[in-house]
Amino acid sequence: MPSFADRAASRRKFLQFLAGSPLLAAGGAFAGEGFTPGSKLSDPLMWAPMRADQLIKSPKEAVNVFDFEPVCRQNVPPAHFGYMASGIDDEVTLRANREGFLKFQLRPRRLVDVSKVDMSTEILGVKYASPIVLAPVGGQRSFHDEGEVASARAAKVGNHLQILSTATSLGVEDVSSARGQPIWYQLYATNKWEVAETMVKRAEKAGCYAVAVTVDRSGGRNQETLFRLRPTDTRDCSGCHDRSSLQSSMRTRAMYQGIDLSGLTNTQSSRIKTWMHCLPGPRLKARKITTEAAYSFLGWICCCCWTTGRAS
Ligand SMILES: Cc1cc2nc3c(=O)[nH]c(=O)nc-3n(C[C@H](O)[C@H](O)[C@H](O)COP(=O)(O)O)c2cc1C
Repeated sequence: MPSFADRAASRRKFLQFLAGSPLLAAGGAFAGEGFTPGSKLSDPLMWAPMRADQLIKSPKEAVNVFDFEPVCRQNVPPAHFGYMASGIDDEVTLRANREGFLKFQLRPRRLVDVSKVDMSTEILGVKYASPIVLAPVGGQRSFHDEGEVASARAAKVGNHLQILSTATSLGVEDVSSARGQPIWYQLYATNKWEVAETMVKRAEKAGCYAVAVTVDRSGGRNQETLFRLRPTDTRDCSGCHDRSSLQSSMRTRAMYQGIDLSGLTNTQSSRIKTWMHCLPGPRLKARKITTEAAYSFLGWICCCCWTTGRAS
């Protein structure tokens, strides 16, 4: 009769063999069952319950943030789920992000009174309950009808910083007022100065006190999971999406309303480094914050470079 230790060792070996198996890597063997098509590699979903009958039924049941993703897959149309779940090129960036996070370790402190934990942090002079920030995510009404306003309400409850995407489904005014405190605005500056200027002015008027400029989308992006799932979506999407040109695609978005989009050829600007010093703001005061994370810090407005980890 093999000992407990022997059994544990051979189980470990078997799991190691499975982890290296191309069958598992193809996503079909364990992870994807119950969902078609099995278009994602096994990580980072492999540690989330993927069987439809094991999905959490309420947020309270979640033991890991990844418990939400398969629920999203079940409830959200395939194309929208594909947008949410997609990384770029072989999902390399997505995996790199996950692996990056694994390098962080929580350092437990023993025999220390932790009955009162203070995770509060100050970002650009504003105090938040924790350093957990809502990163800009575009088009949130594709996941829930209340979109970014619902996220703002959640951010308010937890006192989190919210960064609103240029590709928001709802106007900055509604989101800012739902958050009840100044938020940041994420800017895709585009190749047209007038677009960047109008958006930043609008964000400022709505109470935003910082702008995060996304700089890693110039070359477009190969959102593989999105491109694989989109053709499986049988709905007529033309009511919301017009993909005939970049201009028509952007015209439907809340933050591009009322702006002249003629000549728009790129969501990003190759001149952003120069532009950042000219973006509007009543109390401009240049101040370096870090060499890499930011170029300049402009009084009420902080222009910091933002790389999404999802672009090429
Ligand atoms: C569905 C989705 C939409 C996103 N939309 C934007 C966006 O509009 N603007 C932006 O700067 N970053 C966008 N991002 C990038 C995120 O803000 C974030 O930088 C990226 O997901 C890396 O963080 P993560 O490892 O927590 O996913 C998006 C990411 C996802 C997954």
